[in-house]
Amino acid sequence: MFLLVVLAGALTVVYLLTLWLKDWYSFWKKMDAPYEEPDLFYGNLTSVAKKMDHLGGSMQKIYEKFKGRAPFVGIYMFLKPAALLVDLELVKNVLIKDFNYFHDRGVFYNEKDDPISAHLFALQGPKWKLLRNKLSPTFTSGKMKMMFPTIVDIAKRFEATIDEVAERDADLDIKKLMARFTVEVIGVCAFGLDCNSVADENSEFYRVGLSVFSNPRHSFPVDLLMIAYRELARKIGCKRFRDEVSDFYTRVVKSTVSFRTANDVHRHDFMELLIDLYQRQDDNKITFNELLAQAFVFFIAGFETSSTTLQFCFYELAANPDIQTKARNHINEVLERHGGDLTYEAMMDMKYLDQIINETLRLYPPVMSLFRETDKDYPVPGTNFILKKGVTVLIPAFAIQRDPDVYPNPLKFDPDHFSEENMKGRTPVAFLPFGEGPRICIGARFGMMQVRVALITALRKYKYSLSPKTKSPLELSKNAFITSPVGGIWLNVESL
Ligand code: HEM
Repeated sequence: MFLLVVLAGALTVVYLLTLWLKDWYSFWKKMDAPYEEPDLFYGNLTSVAKKMDHLGGSMQKIYEKFKGRAPFVGIYMFLKPAALLVDLELVKNVLIKDFNYFHDRGVFYNEKDDPISAHLFALQGPKWKLLRNKLSPTFTSGKMKMMFPTIVDIAKRFEATIDEVAERDADLDIKKLMARFTVEVIGVCAFGLDCNSVADENSEFYRVGLSVFSNPRHSFPVDLLMIAYRELARKIGCKRFRDEVSDFYTRVVKSTVSFRTANDVHRHDFMELLIDLYQRQDDNKITFNELLAQAFVFFIAGFETSSTTLQFCFYELAANPDIQTKARNHINEVLERHGGDLTYEAMMDMKYLDQIINETLRLYPPVMSLFRETDKDYPVPGTNFILKKGVTVLIPAFAIQRDPDVYPNPLKFDPDHFSEENMKGRTPVAFLPFGEGPRICIGARFGMMQVRVALITALRKYKYSLSPKTKSPLELSKNAFITSPVGGIWLNVESL
């Protein structure tokens, strides 16, 4: 009898919960907005949560289904209602024109229990705006030019590493090699260190840096849950990063700050500006934890995105030898025109190289979807729909950049997609690897600079071909926040 009562009680709870969920999932239906039918609990992220598809791919399917029929589609990220934008005019409004409704990303951070998570990417509202204004001067073209010689110095040592690898005649994990360069560049420029990761792949900086992505604290679905229910996640003390990561970077930043302040050391790098802000005595002062979080975000936002871009770029160059040869000839020709030395001006003159990088970022944007969150009710222009305060807005960069109506033959790696002529008349929001609007990637110039230098260094004297170890056709991982290939990309390198 007792068992029967328990069973009946449990069934009633399940029944009531299902009713409640069904009602909850009528958010878009009640608004009469176009929507994609959700699954219970997962919403429209079933394939992502079950690792059957990556976020970019699953959003692409919905984008293709609704494109041309509506400006947005109502979906659910687990229980959280989200609007997936399928109209480029609305994308432009959200990212640029009506930014005052969409200044936040709605990303999880926990200033109290996990200070390194409270960085520029995650911060919200006036706090974000104030910090963005303070940090922007560090990323001007002038500052990039000042940091350029440091990057070229690192590239010289990087070349010796490629030499070694080429001589070994073994399959080369190109991502690993490129990450050794980008970790060192950001380590030196953001932390003021000579972290030596190029020469020593066992350095702690390199190991802990890679582990931020390869060994995250939580799986991707859990990260999504923490985004969807961040107030609750904060209350129960959830953290974004593993303790080893925060302990390590706290130690590194503390020792750099004390060394520089004690010895009055000044350099043209990101750390200098952060220390300036930390030492101020007015309202613009930032705390040590704020300084720490920004140095950390420059590092994690800077090295993985850039090494991912380089990895896919080398894949395409190896798969398209004619483009590889054209790129190498272009580099040599521009360098010759500039007297043989790799100067900032010579680098900026390599237009075809930029076409190749842009085409890589189009096909493989390291960040597949952009996020925003409505700060107040937003009337969608030209419709009767309102995006309610707190609704997540998803911009499917991956889908837009593979849309055949925007890029003819979108799956083909074709740098001519970015020829001057083909770019003419194309809306800027059709190419979103760095985002767009006031919340665009603050480090885009720096990221492009390090990708260019790595490409120039690695292409000039070496030739790359695909190793049979590389999976063909290339498959994108279904379980990664940053776009990555299943099985990695393995190349054979030959010294020319
Ligand atoms: C190829 C390299 C890179 C790619 C593809 C990339 C991509 C992105 C994207 C897609 C966003 C979101 C933009 C949006 O929501 O509209 C972003 C934001 C950001 N990125 Fe990058 N990034 C790169 C390099 C860097 C570097 C080198 C740094 C720092 C040194 C950096 C720091 C940041 C920061 C701090 C934000 C947040 C900006 C804000 O919210 O105000 N990124 N990045």
